[in-house]
Amino acid sequence: MVDQGPDALGKRQDYGSVALEDGVLSANPLEQISAWVDEADQAGVYEPNAMVLSTIDPDGLPSSRTVLLRGIDEGGLYFYTDYGSRKGLALLAHPAVSVVFPWYTQHRQIKIFGHAAPTDPEVSDAYFASRPRGSQVSAWASDQSHTIESREVLEAKVREIEARFEGEDVLPRPERWGGFLIEPQRVEFWAGRTSRLHDRIRFEKTSEGWASTRLQP
Ligand SMILES: Cc1cc2nc3c(=O)[nH]c(=O)nc-3n(C[C@H](O)[C@H](O)[C@H](O)COP(=O)(O)O)c2cc1C
Repeated sequence: MVDQGPDALGKRQDYGSVALEDGVLSANPLEQISAWVDEADQAGVYEPNAMVLSTIDPDGLPSSRTVLLRGIDEGGLYFYTDYGSRKGLALLAHPAVSVVFPWYTQHRQIKIFGHAAPTDPEVSDAYFASRPRGSQVSAWASDQSHTIESREVLEAKVREIEARFEGEDVLPRPERWGGFLIEPQRVEFWAGRTSRLHDRIRFEKTSEGWASTRLQP
């Protein structure tokens, strides 16, 4: 039985991280996201590009999961998945997303609100072709988020795909698999500070470009 009480978990940490003084962040939040991913990587964070993506299911209920950020440019953030998965179907019905990069050991967090749309097929093709063959086979074999009778049945599907594409180095991309591009509208950079007096800087996209403001912790 779980019996930890309402406040028994975790030591209380006092964060003392790099301050977000006014003006230290890039005026372009996409550049700043990229810089923080690099800094998390350099600091040895495991999967520094992992982000928690929340979507709205077709029935209006929220759903979250981790995905990997695979690219970032002026257009936004790229990740890849199965368009027929729960998140894929959710995004095709409701493109609004909320994203969190949780870098706990860095005392840093980025929150993003935006909209996601499928990438151009050529973008998905190029990324799919760059994946290891085993991952390409898995993408063909797995209808992500759908139920299956057993692990054995899944492994039999993998053998079937292996036989189908025997001798081919690179598999074609399954049509139901590809990228999404998240176009951010709002980006918040959070840095933990002493006594919970944290720094929060929020960027919002306006018709004149990005505007930033400080939020109370
Ligand atoms: C560290 C980590 C990275 C992941 N990266 C991806 C990813 O890039 N794409 C993906 O489809 N699933 C990824 N997953 C699996 C998802 O979290 C999730 O289980 C899967 O996509 C099905 O989600 P859905 O049923 O909500 O669509 C990752 C999981 C973890 C823990």
